Amino acid sequence: MKTARQCIIVLLTLLEFSHASIDRRSLVSRYNPVRNASSSVTPMQVGNGNFAFGADATGLQTFLPYAIMSSWGWKNDSLPTNRTMEDILQYQGVSWWNHDRLVTYTFDGDAETQQWLIANPNRVNLGRTGLVFFSEEGDIANVTESDLSNINQELNLWTGNITSRFVWEGQEVAIETHSHQSTGAIGIVISSPLLEQGRLGLFLDFPWNDGTSKFEAPFVGEFNLTSNHTTTLLTNDTPGSRIAAQIAHTMNNCTFWTSLGGGRFNISRDSPETHRYTVRPAAQASSEFAITLAYSLDKPVSTPAVADIVRSSTQAWEDYWTYGGFVDVLTGSSDARADELQRRIILSRYLMRVNEAGDTPPQESGLVNNGWYGKFHMEMFFWHSAHWALWNDWDLLDRSSSVYSRFLPTSIERAQTQERWDTGARWGKMSDPSGRSAPGEINELLIWQQPHPLVFAEYEYRAFPTRATLEKWRDVVKATADWMADFAWYNETMGVYDLGPPMYVVSEDTSPNVTTNPAFELSYWKFGLALAEQWMVSLGEEVPANWTTVKSNLAPLPIENGTYAVYEGIPSDFWYTPTYTNDHPALTGLYGWLPETPGLNITMAKLTAEKAWAYWNISNCWGWDFPMLAMSAARNGETEQAIEWLLHPLFQFDDVGMPIGGARVPTPYFPGSGGLLYAVAMMAAGWDGSNRDAPGFPTEGWQVEVEGVSRAL
Ligand SMILES: *[C@@H]1O[C@H](CO)[C@@H](O)[C@H](O)[C@H]1NC(C)=O
Ligand SMILES: *[C@@H]1O[C@H](CO)[C@@H](O)[C@H](O)[C@H]1NC(C)=O
Ligand SMILES: *[C@@H]1O[C@H](CO)[C@@H](O)[C@H](O)[C@H]1NC(C)=O
Ligand SMILES: *[C@@H]1O[C@H](CO)[C@@H](O)[C@H](O)[C@H]1NC(C)=O
Ligand SMILES: *[C@@H]1O[C@H](CO)[C@@H](O)[C@H](O)[C@H]1NC(C)=O
Ligand SMILES: *[C@@H]1O[C@H](CO)[C@@H](O)[C@H](O)[C@H]1NC(C)=O
Ligand SMILES: *[C@@H]1O[C@H](CO)[C@@H](O)[C@H](O)[C@H]1NC(C)=O
Ligand SMILES: *[C@@H]1O[C@H](CO)[C@@H](O)[C@H](O)[C@H]1NC(C)=O
Ligand SMILES: *[C@@H]1O[C@H](CO)[C@@H](O)[C@H](O)[C@H]1NC(C)=O
Ligand SMILES: *[C@@H]1O[C@H](CO)[C@@H](O)[C@H](O)[C@H]1NC(C)=O
Ligand SMILES: *[C@@H]1O[C@H](CO)[C@@H](O)[C@H](O)[C@H]1NC(C)=O
Ligand SMILES: *[C@@H]1O[C@H](CO)[C@@H](O)[C@H](O)[C@H]1NC(C)=O
Repeated sequence: MKTARQCIIVLLTLLEFSHASIDRRSLVSRYNPVRNASSSVTPMQVGNGNFAFGADATGLQTFLPYAIMSSWGWKNDSLPTNRTMEDILQYQGVSWWNHDRLVTYTFDGDAETQQWLIANPNRVNLGRTGLVFFSEEGDIANVTESDLSNINQELNLWTGNITSRFVWEGQEVAIETHSHQSTGAIGIVISSPLLEQGRLGLFLDFPWNDGTSKFEAPFVGEFNLTSNHTTTLLTNDTPGSRIAAQIAHTMNNCTFWTSLGGGRFNISRDSPETHRYTVRPAAQASSEFAITLAYSLDKPVSTPAVADIVRSSTQAWEDYWTYGGFVDVLTGSSDARADELQRRIILSRYLMRVNEAGDTPPQESGLVNNGWYGKFHMEMFFWHSAHWALWNDWDLLDRSSSVYSRFLPTSIERAQTQERWDTGARWGKMSDPSGRSAPGEINELLIWQQPHPLVFAEYEYRAFPTRATLEKWRDVVKATADWMADFAWYNETMGVYDLGPPMYVVSEDTSPNVTTNPAFELSYWKFGLALAEQWMVSLGEEVPANWTTVKSNLAPLPIENGTYAVYEGIPSDFWYTPTYTNDHPALTGLYGWLPETPGLNITMAKLTAEKAWAYWNISNCWGWDFPMLAMSAARNGETEQAIEWLLHPLFQFDDVGMPIGGARVPTPYFPGSGGLLYAVAMMAAGWDGSNRDAPGFPTEGWQVEVEGVSRAL
């Protein structure tokens, strides 16, 4: 199936190449990040979506402990004092009424147990590796970055490798860093005359990190809490073995493996009190030293050779740049902002594939550092990953979109036992790879994650309109829509179906007990139920009557004083009340992020968006709000405004393309990058019903070439 799909993509791309001519390689390479010093905030990275390696100016973690993280490296902390696993499993929160149903939620139960459930499992920093410098006498030299000169580092985007050069004590050093593309292996090649003199080596170290802090940025874990964890060195003298040494790193119940292969070397532990090991290349009068460091959950029997890692990286990255979607806004544009927009596009494409193409949805900070203990948020999955669908990177999206079928059983269970809704699946929020959603009032009462799988399914069917696609998503679509229909509550007085209370809206800042019929969620419900109905029709199955009844009779969108309102009953002067205009401006998503939904008055939606542009507290927005604002401007025909939102001064990407967290959250905050790519795709390739090329761009000053990018809904 996947192979067939890849063939289709290759074929489509080849067909496009017969008439299109974006010089992809030179456009990509134009934005290769270059540094002459380490950043204290963001690493340069290599990786593959499931695994990423953050580097300082030496291409390793010599001076700064940037993280090595993965989609599979998770562990549990020890249990809270005086609590057993049984207590954890039996955790119960409070019961709140949802109209006539008493619903049991997982919050406000035993505080210790609840916090453990929120913070566990947490995502592990797999280790650190860096250069060791030796004096002429052979002692370890105390070197800082300021002792180096002529630092010059380049990330080659086209092949996914970092080249780092500098001079130490008058001698040149060059380091190549490559990441394998299907395992957690790094290939390191060091070239320097210092090697011949026995004056360069590597160290490996292992931090303790746990759920004490919700955010761990820019670095993850502590290297001085050495008694909390253990490491053990195993060496292997078997001639010809691909693995020369292994370090088992055990934190509580979990062991992570680091396997070293490649060049000949000696390895020893610095002292029993630390987890630091020193690798010295065997004396062999060579000015080059190549080594593989492979990180894994299971103890491997082999590691890829450095040459295999280089091949794997070069091939996978060239394929990605060559066969995925591509947008050129630079060539032929006279608008001075085109260069910066193109830079953001290219660097976001790189960083999304390094950080956000794993087997589970990404955390907000990808594989750079930890936020929310390393967990991922199901409502943010759209902003992280829907762009893959528009840019036609189906092999990458398939990895994580499969969570919907994997999490289906636990989401059905959530609806039934926890929430006592009898039908359907309620998707969780702040999640770990098992599908368990963390306790918490907002986590439990948020609902806008619910329709997302319908959108992912719809895009997949548009790309692959086959029976197999329909069947693949059938159970997910059905259970998703069943719960949506069941959650809506029939208000007999009004003769409509209400959403909430209690519930939280997208902006998470209204009182859940009074929040009823929010405009965005009502529209998303209508839109989602319509997609689900069509799915059944395409399958040739009967559309459940409740879906249609609910969809057609949902409460009308709330209106206050001539614009749409956040929710029904909000004070009519809410636009001028800071507490209501201070987080995600989801009202602008009514027409922009969402297409025209039944009953939406486009004129009023535009008035609403303009009101948000003027009155929302933009300085407190989150990264993805800017692409959402751009999409509303674009769909409303305000193309100049759309460009301004994408390049807004409060929406920044640093020199290597990391999206700045801004006022709300540490850097990076990748929903900003995912949102940017989704918005750019929509503005460049259009949306259903748009009727000119690049409909989101101004006609003056911009020339936009698009290859292999699909329209947005
Ligand atoms: C390093 O690069 C920055 C710009 O990125 C530049 O301002 C600075 O002068 C450079 N420093 C050296 C020593 O080359
Ligand atoms: C660790 O493993 C033991 C034995 O399998 C188990 O009883 C215990 O609950 C685990 N603890 C945690 C925190 O996962
Ligand atoms: C531990 O739990 C037991 C039984 O719940 C209780 O009697 C005891 O006071 C607790 N001890 C501490 C230190 O919390
Ligand atoms: C919401 O209602 C529940 C009872 O259903 C109550 O326990 C809770 O305190 C209320 N929350 C707020 C913020 O008013
Ligand atoms: C290494 O050098 C730094 C900066 O000069 C100094 O602060 C530190 O104490 C030195 N460490 C050792 C172990 O000598
Ligand atoms: C790695 O990138 C550099 C440029 O940054 C390039 O010159 C070099 O050839 C690349 N190495 C490989 C093995 O692709
Ligand atoms: C460990 O290092 C951190 C800084 O990374 C410091 O804040 C902390 O006090 C140290 N802890 C111990 C036990 O030395
Ligand atoms: C980790 O080590 C520190 C310092 O030794 C100690 O205070 C802390 O309780 C330990 N944490 C765990 C979870 O073992
Ligand atoms: C029915 O809807 C009206 C208008 O939105 C509202 O005032 C009323 O509280 C709802 N009825 C119930 C029982 O929630
Ligand atoms: C459909 O709605 C009816 C009436 O509200 C209800 O009894 C039934 O359980 C619902 N069925 C589903 C599948 O939600
Ligand atoms: C209604 O909107 C107008 C401007 O459109 C504004 O002047 C007026 O204050 C608003 N009324 C309320 C109650 O917010
Ligand atoms: C849509 O909203 C505009 C602006 O409030 C209003 O003038 C118009 O009558 C509305 N259209 C419909 C069909 O309600």
